[in-house]
Amino acid sequence: MQVELRIQRYDPERDSKPHMEAYSVESAPMDRVLDLLHKVKYDQDGTLTFRRSCAHGVCGSDAMLINGRNRLACTIRVDQLGGRRITVAPLPGLPIVKDLVVDMEGFFEKYRSVQPFLVADTAPPGRERRQSPEARARYDDTTKCILCAACTSSCPSFWAQPAYVGPAAIVNAHRFVFDSRDEGADERLELLADKDGVWRCRTIFNCTDACPRGIHITQAILEVSRAIVEREA
Ligand code: SF4
Ligand code: F3S
Ligand code: FES
Repeated sequence: MQVELRIQRYDPERDSKPHMEAYSVESAPMDRVLDLLHKVKYDQDGTLTFRRSCAHGVCGSDAMLINGRNRLACTIRVDQLGGRRITVAPLPGLPIVKDLVVDMEGFFEKYRSVQPFLVADTAPPGRERRQSPEARARYDDTTKCILCAACTSSCPSFWAQPAYVGPAAIVNAHRFVFDSRDEGADERLELLADKDGVWRCRTIFNCTDACPRGIHITQAILEVSRAIVEREA
């Protein structure tokens, strides 16, 4: 079947602002949006620019706004979009570099700010830092993040205040704050208690709806908020 693929285009060397361009693409129902973008790039316009790597929902590099919702282009199929007209634009709220590519540096800076690694300065109690299956399960959900930015870039609080650390950074802080082997929770929680930390969340849930990994992001944010309150009590 023929699908009309409308893509937001922007070349900073040529365009004063982004605009939409339409492409007619032959598609099978099981094609993914990434397949259609490849067809445009390979057969119609080689200048079309977008990120992708794994093509299997693992690397997080091809999150974009598809029919008004942040999704991974490599996992959403044409038949799931239920029509012959598909609109694709870059992730909202992030600076556009070219076409569907956004500047992720600010996003990764916030991710790095929460120390997304195990902090354990004391010597291990034995040959290794052991953890029970129950203790591991405590933070299992937030280990699934692939840093695609679909959550943070769908958050109205982030759009209104780009200094907000954002749901992705909080998810990655959660992953270590609730790790029984970690000793860096105090520092992380202090950072997230800042005015641009967890309190900017208004429980809007866009982040949870957008997450391609099904992470319960809003719940994770509330758990981190509670840990901050308990720490200060
Ligand atoms: Fe992407 Fe989900 Fe991680 Fe947010 S929490 S960056 S939506 S995988
Ligand atoms: Fe934003 Fe998600 Fe909170 S959309 S306001 S971070 S629940
Ligand atoms: Fe890797 Fe889509 S290309 S997640």
